[in-house]
Amino acid sequence: MTMLVTGGAGFLGTRLIQRLLAGTAQVQAATRVICVDQVASPLADARVVSHVGSIADPGFVATAVEPDVTAIWHLAAVLSGQSDAEPDLALTVNVGGTQALLEACRRLASPPRFVFASTIAVFGRPLPDVVPEDLALRPASTYGTTKAIAELLVLEATRRGVVDGLACRVPTVSVRPGQPNSAMSSFVSGIVREPLAGVDSVCPVPLDTRLWVASPATTTANLAHAGVVGPEALGPVRTLNLPGVTLTPADLLDSLERAAGPTTRALVRLAPDARISTVVGSWPGAFDVSRALALGFTIDRDADALVAQYLAERV
Ligand SMILES: NC(=O)c1ccc[n+]([C@@H]2O[C@H](COP(=O)([O-])OP(=O)(O)OC[C@H]3O[C@@H](n4cnc5c(N)ncnc54)[C@H](O)[C@@H]3O)[C@@H](O)[C@H]2O)c1
Repeated sequence: MTMLVTGGAGFLGTRLIQRLLAGTAQVQAATRVICVDQVASPLADARVVSHVGSIADPGFVATAVEPDVTAIWHLAAVLSGQSDAEPDLALTVNVGGTQALLEACRRLASPPRFVFASTIAVFGRPLPDVVPEDLALRPASTYGTTKAIAELLVLEATRRGVVDGLACRVPTVSVRPGQPNSAMSSFVSGIVREPLAGVDSVCPVPLDTRLWVASPATTTANLAHAGVVGPEALGPVRTLNLPGVTLTPADLLDSLERAAGPTTRALVRLAPDARISTVVGSWPGAFDVSRALALGFTIDRDADALVAQYLAERV
């Protein structure tokens, strides 16, 4: 089985490819995974084939989507901070890239499962306390707007039988290893990761800001699961809010202190940033995820579990 992951050299894409190659009781292992990204996959595995180029280039995408592809995970995107700074690029990549990918799927023998990594940033105010599955999309950022448009493209291609699509709204993933990135939510990992490395960190939003968060392991498992949930179980609704937990920066800092002590926590300074606070504050803090859980998707326990997972992986 040949599977394809766009953004496959990125943080979630790399983990997803590893999981697809390993397989699970529910997910049959891939025999070959095509990684489509601007850089080659960091994985040294003969089963991983890198196609290096931009998804905004329809000619490149047409070559990358090889005829035997049976499932696609579309993760390549311009993230929130960069989308805000470069809205034209965000439209070109997040919308144009999705369109090019769906167009290439028209040449496949049968419609592939097409998992789209969307975001909770497709929602915006006014927000109920707990967001239901069917809330209207009111994105309050360029990033959220481009993802909402791409969701509609996936739904239209599904309706027309080009793909068997599922747009998964991924929570903010934390604790993410490595360096800060261009996402406005980058601090959600930074306020744990940096102090644990003995480095100062800044929290740019009020400590009581509600965040909707999932760990890297749970997110990867849920994206893989999205590839195998049967069309009958999904029914006609092909958008899904992936499970997360509601946390505030204060909750994460309390967990950090429980794990590493008050001196480590003291490395985090509160320095409000109006732009980040406005955008992140426009994202929902809680969702009704009963549908996702009934479909077999999984959920993290709490902030302590997120910090513990990061510490366990770091060793
Ligand atoms: N990590 C999160 O907290 C989070 C939350 C919600 C949604 N998402 C979504 O999940 C997906 C993956 O996120 P991530 O955290 O792994 O980000 P990432 O930046 O680590 O990975 C994205 C990858 O896309 C690639 N890419 C960007 N533009 C490209 C282009 N024009 N052509 C080909 N490749 C291109 C990058 O090179 C990168 O490897 C994204 O679509 C993101 O919007 C992530």
